[in-house]
Amino acid sequence: MSTVLYIKANPKSDEESRTFQISEHFIETYKKNHPEDQVITLDLYKEGIRFLTNEDIYAIFGPKTEESKNHPVLKYTYQFAQADKYVFAIPMWNLSVPAILKAYFDYVMVSGITFKYTEHGAVGLLKNKKAVCILTTGGEYMTPPMSDFEMANRYVNTILAFMGVEDIKTIAAQRLDIQGEDVQKILNEALKEAEEIAKSF
Ligand SMILES: Cc1cc2nc3c(=O)[nH]c(=O)nc-3n(C[C@H](O)[C@H](O)[C@H](O)COP(=O)(O)O)c2cc1C
Repeated sequence: MSTVLYIKANPKSDEESRTFQISEHFIETYKKNHPEDQVITLDLYKEGIRFLTNEDIYAIFGPKTEESKNHPVLKYTYQFAQADKYVFAIPMWNLSVPAILKAYFDYVMVSGITFKYTEHGAVGLLKNKKAVCILTTGGEYMTPPMSDFEMANRYVNTILAFMGVEDIKTIAAQRLDIQGEDVQKILNEALKEAEEIAKSF
């Protein structure tokens, strides 16, 4: 049995959000095809993820005990390390990810749990895990020249690779806010791609 962590980074409802239309379809398809697996939904806004305080930093860098697993910040890094697969649902905000996702990664990136420092530098501790990044954008950023400006998919991929996750796929629905675009067609294509990837994820 695998555990899937479904990380939602948008304050909008499932009905309003085009990102969530795609990610919910991915999750529904996944559940149908992997009925024995556990899917944990982590809506970052409902979780109340906030910026790290000075106290949080002491907890992150301090000694870890059995009690750390229930610490309001550290519990997220343990949960992340225990999951087998990750599904990220992310709208592009100002060329990057919504700030709440960065704040969440500040909870998750804990030395000794998701990565460690060695004499050769940092090494990821998350092995044999896979991830899918479902990203929506108003414009087009996955191809040159605008791909130079793209810091959402690249950021998530880089953070995951840093923690050792090697198998990462992206489903990108782009040009959703460009006048004259057939937005429903773009969404239908993304939904189809999500369905295909979810079956074998
Ligand atoms: C605060 C904010 C910033 C945004 N910045 C960008 C951007 O830099 N580039 C872009 O292509 N789209 C940008 N968008 C548009 C969204 O990425 C796009 O509308 C996306 O489809 C929203 O997904 P949703 O329907 O799930 O909210 C931005 C939207 C918001 C709300």
